[in-house]
Amino acid sequence: MTENISVLLDEKRVFKPSKDFVNQTNVKQWMDQHNIKTYDDLLKKAEDWKWFWGEMAKDVVEFYTPYKQVIEWNEPFAKWFTGAKYNIVHDAIDKHVTTWRKNKVAIIFEGEPGDVRKLTYNDLYIQVNKLANALKELGIKKGDRVGIYLPMIPELPIAMLACAKIGAIHSVVFSGFSATAFRDRANDCEVKLVITCDSFYRRGKKVPLKTQADDACKETPSVKNMIVYQRTGDQVNWTAGRDHWWHEITKDKPSTCPTEQLDANDNLYFLYTSGTTGKPKGIIHAHAGYAVGIAQTLKWVFDIKDQDVYWCAADIGWVTGHSYIAYAPFILGATQIIYEGAPDWPNPDRWWDIIEKYGVSVFYTSPTSVRLFMRHGEDWPKKHDLTSLRLLGSVGEPINPEAWIWYYKNIGGERCQIMDTWWQTETGHFVISPLPITPIKPGSATKPLPGMAAAVYDDKGIQVKDGGGSLVLMHPWPGMLRGIYKNPERYKETYWGRFKGVYLAGDVARVDADGYFWIQGRADDVLKISGHRIGNSEVESALVSHPLVAEAAVIGKPHEEKGESITSFVVLKKGVEPTEALKKELRDHVAKEMGKLARPDEIWFVTDVPKTRSGKIMRRVIRAKALGQEVGDTSTLANPESVDEIGKAK
Ligand code: WTA
Repeated sequence: MTENISVLLDEKRVFKPSKDFVNQTNVKQWMDQHNIKTYDDLLKKAEDWKWFWGEMAKDVVEFYTPYKQVIEWNEPFAKWFTGAKYNIVHDAIDKHVTTWRKNKVAIIFEGEPGDVRKLTYNDLYIQVNKLANALKELGIKKGDRVGIYLPMIPELPIAMLACAKIGAIHSVVFSGFSATAFRDRANDCEVKLVITCDSFYRRGKKVPLKTQADDACKETPSVKNMIVYQRTGDQVNWTAGRDHWWHEITKDKPSTCPTEQLDANDNLYFLYTSGTTGKPKGIIHAHAGYAVGIAQTLKWVFDIKDQDVYWCAADIGWVTGHSYIAYAPFILGATQIIYEGAPDWPNPDRWWDIIEKYGVSVFYTSPTSVRLFMRHGEDWPKKHDLTSLRLLGSVGEPINPEAWIWYYKNIGGERCQIMDTWWQTETGHFVISPLPITPIKPGSATKPLPGMAAAVYDDKGIQVKDGGGSLVLMHPWPGMLRGIYKNPERYKETYWGRFKGVYLAGDVARVDADGYFWIQGRADDVLKISGHRIGNSEVESALVSHPLVAEAAVIGKPHEEKGESITSFVVLKKGVEPTEALKKELRDHVAKEMGKLARPDEIWFVTDVPKTRSGKIMRRVIRAKALGQEVGDTSTLANPESVDEIGKAK
């Protein structure tokens, strides 16, 4: 494999979509209606971004009452489609049950053990309404926060939609995160009610989610009720008065429930994501702008049509699943797959089996998964007929050209273009991504989508034309975050404080002479483990919370499959013996505090970690030393001796 990789690393081909394919796409249809001939002309036309987004809104959503203005921009605070009354649930569910889509399949669910459920739009409508009525009965009102801790089962989007329906704000926490992680997030936004399940299947075992939720809720004073969906039938502990079975509380509820007609800018959800401090930030998204942004980008980038079977294999616990499973596909009336379990369970062809069985036509995953399957070899996908596929997607981290080519050949049969979509929890939807009409260079997310603008800035804030620097976005976009919950100052500083008038993405990128963007990774202290965001300082806090640890410094090292791996340098308290058993204990401790995803791959015991005089850990220095690179300027170091010790840790 290594030999192949070095050849493929030199991939310079540009992959142009065929004319036949282009002519049938949603974007081309819109271009024809507007007399726009080429991709470049389209980008030019959409430079009038307020006009463009106004047009797009007409195309993908229905307001209860029309908006007065496309955007009110009070830098850095935006309001989109002001004056309109709106609710995203109208577009995701309500509007379909009055059309032929009423009985169209919305979700094909496959559980890890192989159980299958198909839900139509009408089924979703009824389930969402019943749950919304139950939430109301338990006192949940507009603006209240509901914590959702569920695995990949249809009840997860149903719960989100039920909250949105009545104007409540959901805060979903990834089911792979620990009880502590759930507790901290629930407390930050004072969740009133929690929705979870007894347990779920993962790698042939059952994960006891209710037990974790119970642990978390020992220290969440705001939580008054818990709704528990019965997924496996496992025994669970029960807190009388607080806990309610989903099937019991929804049973006799009416199957209709009015959808709250909200202000277009009312909040839809908070989603916690890692930043540079030890505490994740609650990213705020609002109804209407977000709905327009996610639906339009899905419609154009993945070219969703009624006959498609769409599958985004991300988890709804992350933004990808919020935008492109729980909301956008429903707004477009699509049929989509939801799969509960691990990708390579019981065999590495589970996903290919699902694609073949349901005739998936659009498939969206991460480079980490592609690399996982690459490792298992091409014989696994070869066992399956994957010819139903017509478009592929990638997200979460840069896709290296060799993974791109493998995906293109072995999954896409050299037929399907790969949409490498760059975006963030904060952006809400794709920002830099090809359209199906865009010539593609493997490894590049290509150009900003129509109606969006990006650039690369040098340290002085001067735009770089052909070279590297900080990735910035030049003007607001509809799905943009509205702030950080309870922390408007941090919002201003983090995103709008570095360069005047532009949004700082926090990524390092290169732009080439053709205006194509090549994302290189995070510029800040945020790790990308299997495409998931984990803050270095969050892992450090988790380590330091162990009673034997005095200090910790965490860095990411390049990893062939996961993109990055977690390496930690740990200073133990005086007199504590550094043993292998303790290393294991610390790794398990982090997994327990944060979730398995954050478990350090390596732990090194050191007597000190490099710090500035003000006590800030110098991760840049540690990383360079640990990777055997030039350490650079160390003049601000308070304890230069500590650097040598890091160097020995190889
Ligand atoms: C990275 C995930 C390269 C990037 C949707 C960004 C990518 C961070 C890509 C956001 C891509 C996402 N190519 N890097 N196509 N997509 N990233 O908030 O570093 O979990 O800043 O959102 O993922 O991660 P988040």
